[in-house]
Amino acid sequence: MNNITPSTYVRCLGYSTLRQLADFIDPQEGWKKLAADIRNPSGTDRYNQMHIRRFEALKQMGKSPTCELLYDWGTLNCTVSDLVDLLIRNQFLTPASLLLPDSVRVTDDATVTFPVQEAVPKYDGEIPLKKKQMTSVSPLSTPDNGHLTVASCSLMVEENTLHLSDSGLKSFLFHELQSVTNNFDDRVVSAGGNKLGEGGFGVVYKGCINGRTVAVKKLSTVADISLQDLKQQFEQEIKIMAKCQHENLVELIGFSSDLDQPCLVYDYMPNGSLLDRLACLDDTGPIPWRTRCSIAQGTASGICYLHENNHIHRDVKSANILLTKELVPKLSDFGLARASVRFTRTIVTDRIVGTAAYMAPEALRGEISPKVDIFSFGVVLLEMITGLKPMDENRDPQLLLSIKEEIEDEEMTIEDYIDEKMNDWNFTSVEQMYSVACQCLNEKKSRRPDIKMVKQHLQEILVD
Ligand SMILES: Nc1ncnc2c1ncn2[C@@H]1O[C@H](COP(=O)(O)OP(=O)(O)O)[C@@H](O)[C@H]1O
Ligand SMILES: [Mg+2]
Repeated sequence: MNNITPSTYVRCLGYSTLRQLADFIDPQEGWKKLAADIRNPSGTDRYNQMHIRRFEALKQMGKSPTCELLYDWGTLNCTVSDLVDLLIRNQFLTPASLLLPDSVRVTDDATVTFPVQEAVPKYDGEIPLKKKQMTSVSPLSTPDNGHLTVASCSLMVEENTLHLSDSGLKSFLFHELQSVTNNFDDRVVSAGGNKLGEGGFGVVYKGCINGRTVAVKKLSTVADISLQDLKQQFEQEIKIMAKCQHENLVELIGFSSDLDQPCLVYDYMPNGSLLDRLACLDDTGPIPWRTRCSIAQGTASGICYLHENNHIHRDVKSANILLTKELVPKLSDFGLARASVRFTRTIVTDRIVGTAAYMAPEALRGEISPKVDIFSFGVVLLEMITGLKPMDENRDPQLLLSIKEEIEDEEMTIEDYIDEKMNDWNFTSVEQMYSVACQCLNEKKSRRPDIKMVKQHLQEILVD
């Protein structure tokens, strides 16, 4: 980072510098916070939800969203001084001091003072910011980790009273789960292994415990999540799921937490995820329209149960809707859910979670309410009508939710988009489901229906 001064243009920063910054800012969606705080010279927000989704798409292609964001912002001739202000405002103190070592002053007793006084959020964690320590600081120990704790603590009051031992769950030893999954055989099931799939937090394996087929999710420390966050996520998932029991929620059978790689044991869902079944992965037949309608209703019932019990799922998507042998839908992954102490209050968190192609505009800004689940469910309904993936880089439009605008602009009709892989549909019922989807996808959260209303509308769909 030689020769960098406050007046250096961001667009002139070298690739290795950008990469170093990205190592701190890519994790935990830190770049989204920065993007939300960047303004155009006119003072308007530079990045809207479409931009954010585009960065997200680049991320899925293996690019660094932070680098892409800085390339783009750099075209406005912003300077390192602007960037450092932005970083400090958003508590990215280590990357700020990597650029300009004097920008974050550290006194001997390790209290941190900020040159920019306004809008500095309170931070009370301990951060190693001394210059000589800088090289050994891992991005995982940046102050960002503090955000998660702060964001979730206030919401965990009630949950904290529940101890794992009271949860009625079976406690396994790691090595027991290891043996029932054939040593966590990483080959896919179709190739004789045990792997069922993989998500953001780990790998899911098929296993058998006392004659019952189970799915074991082994949480792993992936590149950008620390073990501490992972365990927190884990404990939260256990506490929430232990309390949530409904015919449209996947049953959590037990867990293991004796070693550093915690595991969750779920009821096994023989038909995998709705995402995979809509795509007819592994040559499964297309889901008939009638069944899609009952999957929609069942999923709405699952979400309704969660909302009635003051839980927001936050990651409603077709990959989290699992299907039984009879294609009954069961929602999975409540790890991201936060039990809100006061349900009606919207929670603004620093940590943005969820999958971009499903996220409501306000959720992209970190604002969480039950209405974010409604929006995401709207995208799932579109998937069921069209059989299309929520996001496809090689498609126009890339985002499935954009077809709503195309149809509103009368460029296309919903009929053009009906999944050709099914034949038992009728136009009235497709229109009914599409109408529910559109209501759920309202950009304004106050205009979206609540889940009870959604459920009711879906039950009114006349399939025959
Ligand atoms: N209980 C289960 N039964 C069968 N398959 C499962 C189960 N849980 C997860 N899977 C499979 O494993 C995949 C990965 O799950 P997960 O780690 O939750 O990631 P994601 O939800 O992002 O797909 C799922 O998409 C699904 O195909
Ligand atoms: Mg999942």
